[in-house]
Amino acid sequence: MTFEIKINDKLSLKMPTMEDSQEIYKVVDKDRNHLKKWLAWVDKTTSVKNIEDNTTERIEKFAKKEAASFYARYEDKWIASVGFISIDDTNKRGEIGYWLSSEFEGRGLMTECVKASINYGFNDLGLHRILIRCSVNNLKSAAIPKRLGFILEGTSREDHKTEDDFEDTFMWSILEGEWKE
Ligand SMILES: CC(C)(COP(=O)(O)OP(=O)(O)OC[C@H]1O[C@@H](n2cnc3c(N)ncnc32)[C@H](O)[C@@H]1OP(=O)(O)O)[C@@H](O)C(=O)NCCC(=O)NCCS
Repeated sequence: MTFEIKINDKLSLKMPTMEDSQEIYKVVDKDRNHLKKWLAWVDKTTSVKNIEDNTTERIEKFAKKEAASFYARYEDKWIASVGFISIDDTNKRGEIGYWLSSEFEGRGLMTECVKASINYGFNDLGLHRILIRCSVNNLKSAAIPKRLGFILEGTSREDHKTEDDFEDTFMWSILEGEWKE
């Protein structure tokens, strides 16, 4: 049984298995143009093997508590990736990353997934601080931490590689006490 966080009857976060790679690759491949503007790994993901390698990495890092990065399933489809792309267990902090298939944008699904990840981070992983970084030009992405009450700490200069340039990133954070208030 693979690890799962059930959000409601339709939506859940799951650790993928190797057998899921083909279907997940199709979701990425179909949405290349939507995703690649913000995510540098997309152009390097050219085969199912790349997703399999990433799945191996996700499973290994999850076991070592270095990351907890899941895929979201809505009804019977893979729709998104979300979770902790890195965890620093010594300092009790983690960074959340995400992407959502364009077909499912605009319904609040990613906000629900990020909310579930935050609860998992504070309640189960014992984190103290959660960070979200996004390009200053990625308004849809920035709206998520803002909507969930994160504090904007500032910007990191030219921290994000785009196709032909570097962009500044927003640094958003929330502390355990602020979330539980
Ligand atoms: C960033 C990304 C996940 C945002 O997706 P999204 O659909 O805007 O986010 P959500 O699923 O939380 O939906 C929020 C939208 O649904 C609306 N919504 C409807 N019902 C809602 C509800 N119950 N709760 C919250 N929002 C709701 C919101 O108003 C918002 O719409 P708006 O942008 O028109 O105001 C998506 O655009 C994406 O994957 N982009 C490409 C990859 C990327 O940028 N990743 C992040 C890198 S930092």
